[in-house]
Amino acid sequence: MEHTTVIHMFCILILTSAQILNNEFYSADIYPALDTRSFVILSFFGLVVIFLLRSKGVLDSNPTKSLLSLLLLCYVTFPLVLAIITAILAGGSLNYVEVVLLLPVLIAASIMGKIAGICMATVCTTLLFVYGIYNKLPVAFIFESNLIVISMMYVIAWFIGGITEIESENRAQLKASIDSLKKEIIQRKKAEERLSKLNVAVEQSPSIVVITDLHGYIEYVNKKFTTVTGYLPKEVINRNFSDLRIDFLSREQFNQIWRDVAAGKELDGTVYNKKKNGDIFWESVNICPIRNSDGIVTHVLRLSEDVTEAKRMEKEMIRLDRLNLIGEMAAGLGHEIRNPMTSVRGFLQLFSSKKEFQNYKNYFVLMINELDRANSIISDYLSMDKDKIIVLEPKSLSHIIETIGPKIRLDAKKSGKKIVYLLEKLPPLLLDEKEIKQLIFNLVRNGLEAMKPGQTLTIKTYVEGTTAVLAVQDQGSGIKPEIMDKIGTPFFTTKDHGTGLGLAICYSIAKRHKAAIDIETGAHGTTFFVRFNLEQ
Ligand SMILES: Nc1ncnc2c1ncn2[C@@H]1O[C@H](COP(=O)(O)OP(=O)(O)OP(=O)(O)O)[C@@H](O)[C@H]1O
Ligand SMILES: [Mg+2]
Repeated sequence: MEHTTVIHMFCILILTSAQILNNEFYSADIYPALDTRSFVILSFFGLVVIFLLRSKGVLDSNPTKSLLSLLLLCYVTFPLVLAIITAILAGGSLNYVEVVLLLPVLIAASIMGKIAGICMATVCTTLLFVYGIYNKLPVAFIFESNLIVISMMYVIAWFIGGITEIESENRAQLKASIDSLKKEIIQRKKAEERLSKLNVAVEQSPSIVVITDLHGYIEYVNKKFTTVTGYLPKEVINRNFSDLRIDFLSREQFNQIWRDVAAGKELDGTVYNKKKNGDIFWESVNICPIRNSDGIVTHVLRLSEDVTEAKRMEKEMIRLDRLNLIGEMAAGLGHEIRNPMTSVRGFLQLFSSKKEFQNYKNYFVLMINELDRANSIISDYLSMDKDKIIVLEPKSLSHIIETIGPKIRLDAKKSGKKIVYLLEKLPPLLLDEKEIKQLIFNLVRNGLEAMKPGQTLTIKTYVEGTTAVLAVQDQGSGIKPEIMDKIGTPFFTTKDHGTGLGLAICYSIAKRHKAAIDIETGAHGTTFFVRFNLEQ
């Protein structure tokens, strides 16, 4: 822009000078086809074209960059070269005082724009007239002899001023866009900072955060998700959330939930879910839609907390309440039932030996066996008496296990299963040996019953912090989440020939030893942990 403007200015300046000198020094005979008027017209025409194209934004400001700009530059420069040749031939007498008046006009127009240029042209014209009148020249003569200079001044004012204005307008526009760009960059930086803060907060959140698209395909999971479920982000991104869930919900039900949220609903509740290793954990979940700035739901946000521990505590409380009730009932009812049963059994035995009942001997045996079975169930039930007196003595847990080892091994062998012992030396614990044997038997029996032939049951003892732990680990198919709540309830069984008292007894024994029972279960098997407090 700057180069062409300067070239135009010089072009006009020299052409005008040549034109002024034309009368005296320039002869059209030297260049028969051209005269300076033609140069001036050519140059002005070029300037007009440049001006129009520039104002429409067609022309590049750097003339060497586009062919059109270059051509136009040549077009304007050509008369300039001719004018210079003319000036040389004319003898270099470009020293008329009127020509100097073009300079202030040029400066005013190029610095302050069109209006300033025109004002300066008017001032200069007035000066010419004042100068002429002062030299006693007639006004018509002054006008005639300075016509070209005057018109040049206005033309310069008009075009150079116009170009300057366009240029300054462009500059202002450029400045405004740079300013707004700067502002936008600052805003973006701030937004980015805010976003990175939020990102850290979400990443470090103690809640599990999952963001999916409207079809349940995972786009984001935070650290807590990995900590709880064991899945790394790269293992779940772009997978459907329903693929990771235990199939208590069908794909259709899952899709329905996602559709509801996509429609703007917010859902919450407590569900269980599956970890990468197959373990089940409980979650308190909130599922809500994420909307874009137009209010359209674009994603689904799933926030959840691992409430497995709280759930376990809750179950434990319920279980303890139940145990208390059972204990009270056991104490009251047990004896009342057992005493009449003992009498009945006595009479049955008496009658079975009588001659007249010999034909029914088999029935008597059956009745007595059934009574014995009922009696043993009542004995089991009575063992849950909350006031049952136990004898606590310092004993080695590992040693107790070793003493019942042969019996356990025999049970396992009968059903074709293996037993592995991993027993550590533990400090002595206050235990009732008979009860602890019962507890181990019940857990071992359950483990063996849950496994297929060839699988292995592991019995471990070890110290963990301030607790001594007995762990009975099987390789069965795990306990279904829906029955976890009922485990330990007297008479709850899923087995054809089970009484459902095994675990209830374990819980009551554990309670009397101030021990806690925890269960870890999954598709790979179940482990029962009995934790005895070492700081008794
Ligand atoms: N290790 C285990 N693996 C899988 N399921 C188990 C396991 N232990 C217990 N269960 C489930 O818990 C239920 C209750 O167990 P519990 O020991 O109280 O009763 P039971 O084994 O059915 O009968 P029994 O009175 O003969 O022990 C079982 O029926 C079984 O469904
Ligand atoms: Mg059992």
